[in-house]
Amino acid sequence: MTAARKGLQVIPGGGEGRQDAVRIRGLGFRLLDRQKRPLPILDNVDLTLKDGEFVSIVGPSGCGKSTLLNFISGLVPVQSGSVEVFGEPPGGKDAAIGYVFQQHALLPWRPVLTNAAIGLEVAGVPREERSRRARDMLRVMGLDGFEDHYPREISGGMRQRVSLARTLVCNPRLILMDEPFGALDAQTKLLIQEMFLSYWEEHRKTVLFVTHDLAEAILLSDRILVMSSRPGRIMAEYEVGIQRPRNLEQVRHLPRFTELHDSIWENLRAEAMKAMQGRA
Ligand SMILES: Nc1ncnc2c1ncn2[C@@H]1O[C@H](COP(=O)(O)OP(=O)(O)OP(=O)(O)O)[C@@H](O)[C@H]1O
Ligand SMILES: [Mg+2]
Repeated sequence: MTAARKGLQVIPGGGEGRQDAVRIRGLGFRLLDRQKRPLPILDNVDLTLKDGEFVSIVGPSGCGKSTLLNFISGLVPVQSGSVEVFGEPPGGKDAAIGYVFQQHALLPWRPVLTNAAIGLEVAGVPREERSRRARDMLRVMGLDGFEDHYPREISGGMRQRVSLARTLVCNPRLILMDEPFGALDAQTKLLIQEMFLSYWEEHRKTVLFVTHDLAEAILLSDRILVMSSRPGRIMAEYEVGIQRPRNLEQVRHLPRFTELHDSIWENLRAEAMKAMQGRA
């Protein structure tokens, strides 16, 4: 992997010595195309996430980022290679994985409070406790006062915060996030990033965060993995090396931010072009 190119300074992320949250070795995945020919989607993916690390994945559209998260969550069975989550095969009952998607997927017939509590309900948490915990988490997300509103009565940014609250209230050890803020306008996105980052800096859950937004990846992460166009593999890795807690406005003005942004884009550009022209 190319960690440092063109004089990019690499600052260790401090994950050493911690338990592996996710360990993937030689993961491959193929589908059959319309002519029933094998179509490689993922190729020999190696990836390790340390417990408490915030890692982002960037890569061209269609390179297999969502597919990779689906393997980690256990939604898709492993074809070749190995995937472990906290030392166990994915999908085990103790894995405690939270998954946040680009679209909020709230239940339209339920008000905000019971939408936020749905994971706790599934886990069999008694009504009073789940209601209290969901209220507390909605407050953290700045949504107190909206508990009785229905999803159609609140903004897109608020819906996405309910969706985040629904995941975080279950206290997952590992949070998979697939372009969670991708559908939001620029200002709402910035506010949610700040809110989520301050939650994360307090709780230090392991996060694997997929985004197309390089700035977002730098602002939030300890480490950034760059995937190639399809078949996706990890082609570069960057330690962000910006101290925490972070003030997102200040981080944008650091020379390190620009340096990382330029270097990652240099790596990604040709791959993104290939994917766009359908050559991948
Ligand atoms: N069930 C499926 N049947 C057919 N093709 C699939 C299936 N799942 C994924 N693919 C193909 O696998 C490739 C990877 O898909 P995936 O959704 O993981 O990409 P991605 O990197 O998340 O893309 P994006 O950035 O657009 O979200 C794509 O080319 C997609 O068309
Ligand atoms: Mg995707």
